[in-house]
Amino acid sequence: MDNKIDQIKKKIKCFHMKTYDDLETFRIKFLGKKRGIITILFKELKKISIHKRKIYGKIINELKKEVQEKILSFQSKNNIQNEKILKYDPTIPGKSIEIGSIHPLSMIKNRMIDIFLRIGFIYVDGPEIEDDWHNFTALNIPISHPSRDMQDTFFLCKNPEILLRTHTSSVQIRYMKRHHPPFRVLSVGKVYRNETISSRSNFIFHQAEGFYIDKKVSFSDLKQTIHYLITSLFGKAKIRFRPSYFPFTEPSAEVDIYCNSEWLEIMGCGMIDPKVLKNVDIDPEIYSGFAFGVGIERLALMIYQMKDIRIYFDNDIRFLRQFKSEF
Ligand code: PHE
Repeated sequence: MDNKIDQIKKKIKCFHMKTYDDLETFRIKFLGKKRGIITILFKELKKISIHKRKIYGKIINELKKEVQEKILSFQSKNNIQNEKILKYDPTIPGKSIEIGSIHPLSMIKNRMIDIFLRIGFIYVDGPEIEDDWHNFTALNIPISHPSRDMQDTFFLCKNPEILLRTHTSSVQIRYMKRHHPPFRVLSVGKVYRNETISSRSNFIFHQAEGFYIDKKVSFSDLKQTIHYLITSLFGKAKIRFRPSYFPFTEPSAEVDIYCNSEWLEIMGCGMIDPKVLKNVDIDPEIYSGFAFGVGIERLALMIYQMKDIRIYFDNDIRFLRQFKSEF
């Protein structure tokens, strides 16, 4: 037995490994389940007396350790983590990566853009950080005007000139200032108001702003456009125009949609006030126009039959995954 053990020790030491195949041969030669040299030694232990079994058991366990250590040191030198030896096979297909989905609010934004491109509108973006003039003053909302209270504002720094836009109507000013009519424009983006968070409102939400300026644009053009938008989004739907007030439109209206046995306000609209046109150097004697601002989250509540607006900002993957099939 002693002789045998010495020979095995030598065999372990002298076994040279260069490749992963060598390593596998080494492992099978000594530790293979059926014919491994050390496995057989363990089997032979059962045949000798208890006294000798203890002594040789210890020795054979040490041999096993030597084999295992040799395997480990080869693996760590060659950077293999598993006990099983992996061979590179370029024919095996790569692992597929889970692809995300488009956020439901972005889907509605994309749908709105499609709907308006079809009737000659162009799409523009505007900045979320605005100045007082574009967000308020040029839209006929002077400093002391009570409607500034309607839109509790987040000011940036201590400078009340710079703020997070409270609505997308500021894009009207930016675009009208730089372009000559006629034009039809759509813009979609985030707006911010210091509002109490509830199931129906949030301090951050999205609006789509549309405006159209040309000679002889009338209120009936506005109504037609809103009808077109609502039927494109919902198919048949009951809507109503309610007289309202905005400092930048005259006359002004709010549009409600009938949903789950109640009226839900979804947008403000109206004919652009002549004072606003003058502020951007457009002659109100020649041109007239309409504008509207729609809350995207409100539309989303109806389209996806949700009750709580906050779900769109929770980033709950279980909610977002449900929209995978839509695109
Ligand atoms: N800016 C208004 C709001 O945020 C909506 C609006 C847009 C109203 C355009 C009239 C015309 O409530």
